[in-house]
Amino acid sequence: MPRLVIVSNRVSVPDAAGKGTAGGLAVALREAFQAYEGLWFGWSGKVAAHPTSQPRMVDKGDVQYALMDLTSLDRQEYYNGFANRALWPTMHYRVGLSDFSRTDYAGYLRVNRTFATALAKLICPSDLVWVHDYHLIPLAAELRPLGLTNLIGYFHHIPWPAPEVFGTLPGSTDLLRAIMDFNLVGVQTERDADNLRRALMQELGAVAEKVDVLDVGGKGTCVKSFPIGIDASDFQEVAARPRSNRIVSQTIVGLGSRKLIIGVDRLDYSKGIPQRMEAYERFLVNNPDQRGHVTYLQIAPTSRSEVPEYDTLSRVVNETLGRINGSLGEPGWVPIQYVTSTYPRSLLAALYRLARVALVTPMRDGMNLVAKEYVAAQDPLDPGVLILSKFAGAAQQLTGALIVNPNDKFEVAEAIREALRMGHEERVARWRTMIGPLRDRDVSWWAAAFLKELAAQ
Ligand code: F6P
Repeated sequence: MPRLVIVSNRVSVPDAAGKGTAGGLAVALREAFQAYEGLWFGWSGKVAAHPTSQPRMVDKGDVQYALMDLTSLDRQEYYNGFANRALWPTMHYRVGLSDFSRTDYAGYLRVNRTFATALAKLICPSDLVWVHDYHLIPLAAELRPLGLTNLIGYFHHIPWPAPEVFGTLPGSTDLLRAIMDFNLVGVQTERDADNLRRALMQELGAVAEKVDVLDVGGKGTCVKSFPIGIDASDFQEVAARPRSNRIVSQTIVGLGSRKLIIGVDRLDYSKGIPQRMEAYERFLVNNPDQRGHVTYLQIAPTSRSEVPEYDTLSRVVNETLGRINGSLGEPGWVPIQYVTSTYPRSLLAALYRLARVALVTPMRDGMNLVAKEYVAAQDPLDPGVLILSKFAGAAQQLTGALIVNPNDKFEVAEAIREALRMGHEERVARWRTMIGPLRDRDVSWWAAAFLKELAAQ
């Protein structure tokens, strides 16, 4: 069995009790290590005064962690700058928000080179290397000149946009060239795979050897979709546990006979939070009889707060929230409850189970694991209704959801009405179409399918 080397921007090192962070990527990647001995390499999350050339090594059971610090300039140019101000908005079709700077791009390439130089010293010839996320697109192209001939895969967790959109980003052709140094590139949906293949053909003149394999000057790369899953059985089990948590009890008491609508998202403009609040406002305006009978709880942990667009979003959300609660609220009833704390997975599972409706309406999303977690958390005898954006990768799989266009607040408002009125039989029937595939294509399936395909290249 080859060793597995995972590389990602963020690394989740388990604490003394053996627990790691609860984020989707962290859970998914820890799952990949169930079957392999391995090494996990990436940013420590820390900023140091001087660049580090050697990672700090931490041993935890079968997995070794190799952690690199960044300087504050690195963090600014590589993470806040090129990755999150240029690549992220472009990948999410927000060309108008994309702010390209040559200095940031140079910083992005510099950090990728520093990581590659440090990583190359830790890799053995038989290792399988699996790189994650848009921060590290040039990594294989930096590793190859150092003599690495290993199989190297890349998984792109966010959308890959249409070539016309990706092509607007300066440096995009170089990034496509860098993609060709991976043996396998995994994306979330068939649409993403098609977008990337078309870009490689149009920009680099790649030729399709087989349906999924593209060739540029004798170099072949396989581009395929592997929709990421969740640990569905475990999430079902956690959600079904008796609720002894103070916040859950408080929510139950606060709700009384009201129905709960829930939204859980990182505070990111791709998630469509202000648009969703306005759709809910439209629902309350169109259905005055519903006022006082529903509560919408939006949980939105603050994210990337050093990036100016996120600060602007936070202001817009607060203004929208204040306006709606001020104009439609009544003594004893707040239409929208809004919290920016990060909650543990078990608490979220319990809140999902309490909610009659989940609003998962991103403007664009690679997959969206909240949608999957909401479905898994439901009581099979009395499930709630998922309202899901057609622009989330999850919409390709969760066809039992009410699928909406998040740009149309009238359509979303109508879906809220339909979800709240939906009869028991239809709720159960819709839920049943989703839970089976969620369990079959869970996170273990995802990791195993990618790694099997990588090993076969
Ligand atoms: O969805 C892409 C992603 O990079 C995830 O892998 C990560 O968990 C999430 O965004 C959070 O982003 P950040 O690391 O910038 O907080």
